[in-house]
Amino acid sequence: MFYQKSKCPFFLPFEAAWQTIRLSFFKELGRILFWVDNIIFFRYNTNACNSIFMSYFEIIGGKKLNGEIEVKGAKNAALKAAAAALLSREKWIITNFPFIEDTKRILELIEDLGVKVKRFDSKVEIQADQIKKNRLDDELAKKLRASIILAGPVLARTGEVRMHHPGGCVIGKRPIDMFLDGFQKFGTKVKWENAHFRLDAKKLKGAKIFFPKVTVTGTETMMITAVLAEGETILENAAMEPEISALAEFLNKCGAKISGAGTPTIRIRGVKKIGGGKMELIPDRIEAGTFAILGALAGGKIKITKCNPDHIRSLLAHLEKAGVKIEEKKNELIVWGAKKLLPVSVATHEYPGFATDLQPPFTLLMTQAKGSSLIHDSIFESRLMFTDALNLMGAHIVMNDPHRVTVNGPTKLFGRKIVSPDLRAGITLVLAGLIAEGKTKIENIYQIDRGYEKIEERLQKLGAQIKRINK
Ligand code: EPZ
Repeated sequence: MFYQKSKCPFFLPFEAAWQTIRLSFFKELGRILFWVDNIIFFRYNTNACNSIFMSYFEIIGGKKLNGEIEVKGAKNAALKAAAAALLSREKWIITNFPFIEDTKRILELIEDLGVKVKRFDSKVEIQADQIKKNRLDDELAKKLRASIILAGPVLARTGEVRMHHPGGCVIGKRPIDMFLDGFQKFGTKVKWENAHFRLDAKKLKGAKIFFPKVTVTGTETMMITAVLAEGETILENAAMEPEISALAEFLNKCGAKISGAGTPTIRIRGVKKIGGGKMELIPDRIEAGTFAILGALAGGKIKITKCNPDHIRSLLAHLEKAGVKIEEKKNELIVWGAKKLLPVSVATHEYPGFATDLQPPFTLLMTQAKGSSLIHDSIFESRLMFTDALNLMGAHIVMNDPHRVTVNGPTKLFGRKIVSPDLRAGITLVLAGLIAEGKTKIENIYQIDRGYEKIEERLQKLGAQIKRINK
């Protein structure tokens, strides 16, 4: 648009050079805008600015890690189970519950609705005999994407719900169109104004919902909503994550009638009410996978306990291809530090494919492999932006487009001052700090605390030199 392509061969190299300069200018501008946007998002969308900008991790890298690390209950199962508890007037006891920033926020949201919540050590009791409010607190809802899952049970119990557009990690556009379409199919009126939506339904009616794109929280929200709807609901092209089947299994114990969870077609026959009970959350597969990658990068020998290797089959297959030595037991994995890593390309996919949440640490692993690997995050469009921070530490990662990067390795990493942009990128930067030469300072660690309970204490037990500094 700025110039006419010349037909004269003499000018061709100059035109090619000019083209390259223009492209890199726009690419850099895009990156700067991404980071500015992130900072504005953090300041505007979370009230945690104090902890975000004041606490940080200080890491001295290069120590070999050895020992045992236990996997906590799954964050993404805890959030959905806590929300589903609102379907019942009876008490739900949820054990193996991780107390991390995201689960603390969902419990605050639930309490704010007038529901009874009691917290114990890795256990929570929720009794929604009454739901006194049907407007979700704006500030809390803006802090996590999973707040939208509360809309289903609150709507089913009270006939109305109002909430702000949900927040969450800045890893892509993350629209909510499939939620709103789904609610409408249940016979709900949807009104949208000023970033808030309002759902009204005197009675929820079973629906046939086909998800145009596989959505995890969308599937869970529609499954939960259907439990108290009249008649049968069929969800097609549903997500198959293990957290979904575990929740369906427990809901059935409480009297729900769900079949097919864990397959692409879920059928729910609505019931008038459901009871209470005790649910043990499944282990966090993303935490287990992250620790396995840590073992390959920085072990020694690391034993990962209380995990379910079946839930991370795709990662384990990729690690094996990369040359990582892993021994598998029923609820344990033993991982040895890899002396020589082979490059392995990966494309993220819905479960049981390679989890997008494990893409950031796997990308880091590939910076230590000899050769080039192509990382393709097919699910979210901004999940590779964090590779800038790895490049700052010495990695050689080229962004091909927002969904794909090429990692050229091996590269030595050096300690730097960096900011955690989101949860999974944040933990990846911690891992990077642990293998880097020198001191790394990671700011905005609220993002890491959203998903990993007391992570520095658990890593210290492996011998890591990591400190939380509260200013
Ligand atoms: C869940 O997010 C997880 N979060 C994410 O984990 C995880 O990365 C993601 O699933 C994919 O596995 C929770 O469970 C709380 P999606 P979710 O709806 O459910 C598009 C972490 O780090 N989409 O499955 O929000 C969307 O933009 C977090 O623990 C629409 O277009 O993800 C994406 O491209 C981050 N319209 C795709 O679907 C919609 O209405 C899949 O997203 C909804 C989603």
